[in-house]
Amino acid sequence: MCGIVGAVSGSEVAPVLVDALKRLEYRGYDSAGLATYAGSLSVSKGVGRMETLDEALGLSGMEGRAGVGHTRWATHGKPSEGNAHPHTDCDGDLAVVHNGIVENYAELREGLEERGHVFSSYTDTEVVPHLLEERLDGSLEHALRETVSELEGSFAICAVGEDGLVAARNGSPLVIGLSDDANFVASDVPAILPYTRRVKYLLDGEMAVIKRDSVEVRDFDGEPVEREEEVVEWDAEEAERGGYEHYMLKEIHEQPRALAECMGGRLDELMGEVDPGVALDRDGMEVLEGVEFVGCGTSYHAALYGARLTGEFTGLPVNARHASEYRYGPVSGKNILTVGITQSGETADTLRAIERAGDEGHAVLVLTNVVGSTATRMTDDVVYLRSGPEIGVAASKTFTNQLACVAMLAIALGRESGDLPRSEAKHLIAELRDMPSKVQRVLDEVEDVESVAESYVDSEAFFFIGRGVDYPVAMEGALKMKEISYVHSEGYPAGELKHGPLALITRRTPVVAVLTSSPLYEKTLSSAKEVEARDGPVIAVASESDEDTGRFCEEVLRVPDADHRLSPLLSTVVMQLFAYHVARELGRPIDRPRNLAKSVTVE
Ligand code: AGP
Repeated sequence: MCGIVGAVSGSEVAPVLVDALKRLEYRGYDSAGLATYAGSLSVSKGVGRMETLDEALGLSGMEGRAGVGHTRWATHGKPSEGNAHPHTDCDGDLAVVHNGIVENYAELREGLEERGHVFSSYTDTEVVPHLLEERLDGSLEHALRETVSELEGSFAICAVGEDGLVAARNGSPLVIGLSDDANFVASDVPAILPYTRRVKYLLDGEMAVIKRDSVEVRDFDGEPVEREEEVVEWDAEEAERGGYEHYMLKEIHEQPRALAECMGGRLDELMGEVDPGVALDRDGMEVLEGVEFVGCGTSYHAALYGARLTGEFTGLPVNARHASEYRYGPVSGKNILTVGITQSGETADTLRAIERAGDEGHAVLVLTNVVGSTATRMTDDVVYLRSGPEIGVAASKTFTNQLACVAMLAIALGRESGDLPRSEAKHLIAELRDMPSKVQRVLDEVEDVESVAESYVDSEAFFFIGRGVDYPVAMEGALKMKEISYVHSEGYPAGELKHGPLALITRRTPVVAVLTSSPLYEKTLSSAKEVEARDGPVIAVASESDEDTGRFCEEVLRVPDADHRLSPLLSTVVMQLFAYHVARELGRPIDRPRNLAKSVTVE
């Protein structure tokens, strides 16, 4: 996700803004920029890393005691100087930086263009300075209040102009920093830590008017808000992890927001339609003979889940293939849609599989998190995960967003093929919409997972089982456990346990069973009972309202009730936390596991 900084000071702010942006580098970004105001606006931006940008951003001529800066991680529009923030209005009098997604930007932009506004980027953000310009009547604060009332989606916005510096938050974090000779605003505490430890956090639905010697916080109705000042105790490194012990834990906790961004603007609950991020061609659908999903590791597990849902919603033949096998194995048919899943967009095996699919004449769709990555240059059809940068080697928030993306794709394909009734699509979309808050509830119960993890930390091995859509969750649970804890772990379809692995079950080989409500619940429960009968402890992941599981399983971890086809988005969060706490108890280097790399660029 992008980074925001802003400052109003008794002296020049450009050097402070550049320094603060450098402190947000750990978050990852593809371009950066800043704007300062001193009678008129100066804007400087560019593509690349700060050390190469330093010169391009050139501070000479950037005068002003108020300004904003931004590091961008592209979501709408490729990384380019034009798309980098800040964005300005037609007159170039005010500059805006923004984190999050303006879901209704297309419709707002259309209206603004009709009224004569000229746009210079492909971003959703650029509507904001133009809306401000129309509403600016002496008070930037008033203009921002009017503007935010028109925006749908999540945002953190900072604007600077003649009237000073203002900020607004709805769904994307902002913190105000206070000091004697300057006041600041930032998306993340590390940006301002060298300048002050005195902060006030803005909450959703709040705005701030930031002056050199005062900060006023109000709600979106203009009512004053009393916010206590806090003192940040973290050191710089802790602050980069948002106070979490590891990046992975931070990223696990970012999932509600990342999911909301992933689905933002893509769901139409009223019509029962999904915009999966690419145009599905109805004529193409008529001749489509099958869908293949390819990926590696975690992305392969998302492929398994995508194949399962797509098969159910379209009735088409579907397949999930390991990308590393796809390149050399037989390839089916011509009228096939191949969906390549890769969070990094750089995994060599997946790139070769995508290439092969293209050579075979398949329609190719890529699902990735990284704008401008190699995979995005191999096809015109790209769906972005919008997870923000993921620093921990073990995938967490990119996996849940992959699940959400393939679910949206499966619903869209089901609607286009005519196999998924509108009423059913509406129900699934409503369920998807609830996922960010349900994931938040799973995270709020983290203590339960932690204490169960502590009880089984000395295990010899773990097995993870699930059926149907829960089988990919079991596979991913096992992968997470082996990657970060180094404890041997295997994922199995629950029914397979009795065909061999049962021989390994002892008191020291716990079985984590996905037992959320589903038509296959009883079947999986039978597998769990087989384990308990052989003295193996079963750790069940069960639905909140389920009263049965606890009678048969040694431990039960709860997730909110949900449609069984989407509850993998919840169970998987429990698996991540479970693996994390086992690994933490064992003192493993969780963010950098031995022998593993974040993107594997060799075959
Ligand atoms: C996941 O935790 C692993 N880091 C690994 O399995 C990863 O999913 C795999 O290497 C594929 O990466 P990609 O999604 O970037 O293509």
